[in-house]
Amino acid sequence: MTGDEAGSRAQRVAVIGGDGIGPEVLREALKVVAAAGVVLEITDYDLGADHFLRTGEVLTDETLDELRGYDAILLGAVGPPVGDNSVPPGTLERGLLLRMRFELDLYVNLRPFTGVPGSIAEGADFVVVRENTEGSYAGEGGFLRKGTPGEVATQGSVNTRFGVERCVRFAFDLARERPARRLTLVHKTNVLTFAGDLWSRAVQDVAQEYPDVAWDYNHVDAACIYLVEQPRRYDVIVTDNLFGDILTDLAGAVSGGIGFAASANLNPDRTGPSMFEPVHGAAHDIAGQGRANPLAAIVSAALMVEHLGHLDAGARIREAVRACIDIGSDSSSAIGDAVAERL
Ligand code: IPM
Ligand code: MN
Repeated sequence: MTGDEAGSRAQRVAVIGGDGIGPEVLREALKVVAAAGVVLEITDYDLGADHFLRTGEVLTDETLDELRGYDAILLGAVGPPVGDNSVPPGTLERGLLLRMRFELDLYVNLRPFTGVPGSIAEGADFVVVRENTEGSYAGEGGFLRKGTPGEVATQGSVNTRFGVERCVRFAFDLARERPARRLTLVHKTNVLTFAGDLWSRAVQDVAQEYPDVAWDYNHVDAACIYLVEQPRRYDVIVTDNLFGDILTDLAGAVSGGIGFAASANLNPDRTGPSMFEPVHGAAHDIAGQGRANPLAAIVSAALMVEHLGHLDAGARIREAVRACIDIGSDSSSAIGDAVAERL
């Protein structure tokens, strides 16, 4: 589909370059999107650690409301340098990233992995559907007697039948569209007997509606071994927020490196914009040197243009990335140019 086919009005995208290598990798991603013929109206938002240190603001209600009006949000990376204590831990994570995920109801965090040649997962092609609004990320808990020897800290995990079921249903829908039509629930039902039970029943029940999708279950610790030893066994993995966070770093590592890992924070009901971001962080250690791998950002942008209806452009970008996968040691702009030239 071209820009015209997706509607006459140019689609509006809020771009949050963020910190460290974020703006550098997004520059390449937007270059590639333009080369694919997708016309977007871009508005830059200055948010992240730098912005917080200058203004004391993380994400105001006004800015969040503005963001609701876009067709999509593209985010580079946010966070201060490792070891820099000027931004208290959790400030940006909770105040910006998780706030957008929760308030924009981005309830699916979709993370596709294709093992690059030479990686442990070479030949594997799977997608992790991570629940993105609940679990231990919900922020339930607190302190008692903080700072005393009798201190207590609790951190609960929130699992609603509604929240789990809609995520599971998304995963089954996705599995149904893929050639292998397989789904694996990953959890820790032998220990997390309440949350695990709810997840298991949700999968069993929803599975009745998808007789054409084969499903099984792995404990999360076993899934870590399988990801390293037999990654090709997976097609669609569905899992909770924290397991999904950890598993997708491992999946990125075995698939060729986190520099290739893309993600889509989706509002599948389209009641607002979805947000697209590479899985990697701000990597301040290599920022400003033009040597960050932009492929994760480029694939994230491909997921974005697909979500916006430009299915053909998204597929072409992904194909071009596949063709450029072994030039990962070039400069960011050389990689961006190489992908753009193949379109
Ligand atoms: C990710 C990141 C975030 C998460 C952090 C930055 C809050 O690690 O997107 O995987 O834990 O979800
Ligand atoms: Mn993570």
